[in-house]
Amino acid sequence: MTRAIILSGGWGTRLRPLTCTIPKTLIPVLNTPVIEREILMLKRAGVEEIILAVSVMSKELKNYFKNGEEWGVKIDYTNEQSPMGTAGALKLAEPLLKDDNFFMLNGDVILNFDFKEMLNTHEKYGGIGTIASRLVDNPARYGVLIINEETQTIEKFLEKEKYTSIGDNKDKMPVNAGVYVLEPEIFSFIVPKKKISIEKDTFHKVAQTGKLYHYSISGIWKDIGKPHELLNGNILLMKDILKKSESNKENLIKDSADIHPSVKINPPVCIGENVIINEDSIIGPDLVIGNDVYIEEKCEIKESLIYQESYFSQNSKIERAIISDNCHIRKDVILKGNGENLVILASHVIVDNHIQLISSSTDSITVCHHEKVKNNITN
Ligand code: GDD
Ligand code: MG
Repeated sequence: MTRAIILSGGWGTRLRPLTCTIPKTLIPVLNTPVIEREILMLKRAGVEEIILAVSVMSKELKNYFKNGEEWGVKIDYTNEQSPMGTAGALKLAEPLLKDDNFFMLNGDVILNFDFKEMLNTHEKYGGIGTIASRLVDNPARYGVLIINEETQTIEKFLEKEKYTSIGDNKDKMPVNAGVYVLEPEIFSFIVPKKKISIEKDTFHKVAQTGKLYHYSISGIWKDIGKPHELLNGNILLMKDILKKSESNKENLIKDSADIHPSVKINPPVCIGENVIINEDSIIGPDLVIGNDVYIEEKCEIKESLIYQESYFSQNSKIERAIISDNCHIRKDVILKGNGENLVILASHVIVDNHIQLISSSTDSITVCHHEKVKNNITN
């Protein structure tokens, strides 16, 4: 088996306004798009041909990956005019996948596990499909798997609200990690209609045959669907890299970064190419800075994601924020999120001198692309 399909055509609604200008799967995680990380991982597992199931913002994805040559894989695209659901998107790729088993991935998960071993386990089980499963504390936000421990089969697949409706929401449960190995037989379970969900319409039918298995994964795994999950996913990955080896610290901070000796760096931080950080700034912990970001003197920035080419004037104080590309944060600004509620600026936003955006406990504060913020916001 050498093929994989990656789903990359959802709306990314929960990540708006970030996803107004960029598809969710191209959102950077430690400065590399989350889907690109998956592609590189698949390549390391020997996958040579990858189909991107694109729909919303397909142009951006096609422009980025082209035919895949740069990544050493062959990349094809499906032609999905408007989102047809996760199974609808898969069905479109049937002509390319009908000959052998293949991987299928949600394009919005940060993960780190052995794909080859998953394939071996799938082949050993001999089922129609194997779903990577992950134990989590808050299962109702995912597809919950009811597993027969003896046979390792999935007896029920309960997508989100189907699980809450049967009650107990607090226990750790195995959930669908968004990675599957599937046999071409799966296509016979997808009945064409306008929009079809593999989670809601297909898997429970396969489960009924007793030929749907799970493969338990541990380690790094995070769906980046919501802003605080995106932030947490970046932090987890940085911590994991540092845990594996202290010398990896350097890999997180690019050599081309120009950091004034008086700057205090509190790890974990990830700093991209050509970043300039001026006197007396305090950087991190839990901070990712994209390429070509400029930070003036006396800024304090932590627990945040900053995308490329943004500019911070002196004395900015940033905490629990996501700042898209090409933003300009002027002098003496305070951006402060609170827990899961972040301050989120889409691309090309300008925040005027002395402005304070302070989120309390109810909601994130979001600013759409190209807006100029001239008034304080607290919610
Ligand atoms: N091509 C295409 N067409 N892709 C789609 C469509 C569509 O109509 N709808 C969603 N996708 C893509 C998204 O871009 C994303 O990469 C992936 O399919 C999953 O969709 P999400 O919208 O992110 O789903 P979710 O996070 O709520 O839930 C899914 O992921 C969880 C694990 O991360 C489900 O698969 C859950 O069962 C699972 O637990
Ligand atoms: Mg998701």
